[in-house]
Amino acid sequence: MSVTATNSDIERAADVLRAGGLVALPTETVYGLGADAEDPTAVARIFQVKGRPPSHPLIVHIGAAHQLDDWVEEVPATARLLAEHFWPGPLTLVLRRGPRVPLEATGGLETVAVRVPDHPVALALLSAFGGGVTAPSANRFGSVSPTTAGHVRAELGDAVDFVLDGGSCQVGVESTIVDVTGGAPAILRPGGVTREDLEAVLGSPVGVPASSGVRVPGQHPSHYAPHARVVLVEPERVVAEAELAQEQGHRVGVFLPASFSGTEVKAHAVVPLPGALEAYAQGLYGYLRELDQQGCDVIVASLPAEEGLGLAIANRLRRAAGPRGVA
Ligand code: TXA
Ligand code: MG
Repeated sequence: MSVTATNSDIERAADVLRAGGLVALPTETVYGLGADAEDPTAVARIFQVKGRPPSHPLIVHIGAAHQLDDWVEEVPATARLLAEHFWPGPLTLVLRRGPRVPLEATGGLETVAVRVPDHPVALALLSAFGGGVTAPSANRFGSVSPTTAGHVRAELGDAVDFVLDGGSCQVGVESTIVDVTGGAPAILRPGGVTREDLEAVLGSPVGVPASSGVRVPGQHPSHYAPHARVVLVEPERVVAEAELAQEQGHRVGVFLPASFSGTEVKAHAVVPLPGALEAYAQGLYGYLRELDQQGCDVIVASLPAEEGLGLAIANRLRRAAGPRGVA
């Protein structure tokens, strides 16, 4: 990871936040578009810049697990356990909102999503700023999340007051969101912390949403979508499907399964997928952007087995392939 943000960049970014501005910040998952969580006007600007409906709640990023109590009404034992175990890290906990959190940040909900990001630049910013930073992924609503500072600049440009560069995000898919407001913890969005990891710590099974269901407010099937149409087929059909679409006159990009043993694929652009899920997750959004940039109008891919990080990767691919324009 090439961390290029300097101490003076961090100080400047903290000043921008204090002045009610927007700062793009690196996290271990994806880049976020941050504002002072306690400034409703700054929070409103996030929605404006993203083109995101104001009813879609944001995540409050904090600098350390012990600060959680400052932001929520109460911390149930399960939440404490998960926070102690996985923070800093790609886990977001949904809890009852404390009075410090403005309703603008929660989309009017009485719950709030909180996490401690595991990235030196994000943690330095949170420490210099002192407060909480609300940050959705730093992309326009519905499009692919950014995993480099270059992605943020290309997509949001001058709409952001300051971009902190922290290199390429190591995890590459967003945090796992777990509802711990009551009853058994449930995964609202699969992400960087796996279901298996959660279950190992909790000692009990953790529910996951139906793959195509819309459970989390603000999560719609058309999220994470590139411009190209994403077509999902069985792994052994990927090459044939890609070649067929190419013959039909499409400009085809293909996510080539690591298991592919042939030599050549007749497609416009080929992404040879890494065998390890960590590397696949880390590269996923960059691959989608790359194929868009190469002018592909169709991307052919298959779903990985939904175990470990495969659950989050499959979730994002399904959403990338989902119907467009769903409200
Ligand atoms: O890894 C991540 O989580 C990244 C980085 C920047 O931290 N952030 C991120 O934010 O993915 P965003 O806004 O793109 O996605 C936040 C998700 C949305 O699906 C939203 O609906 C959900 O969190 N969320 C936020 N508050 C919630 C709440 N109170 N109850 C249920 N879901 C909530
Ligand atoms: Mg997002």
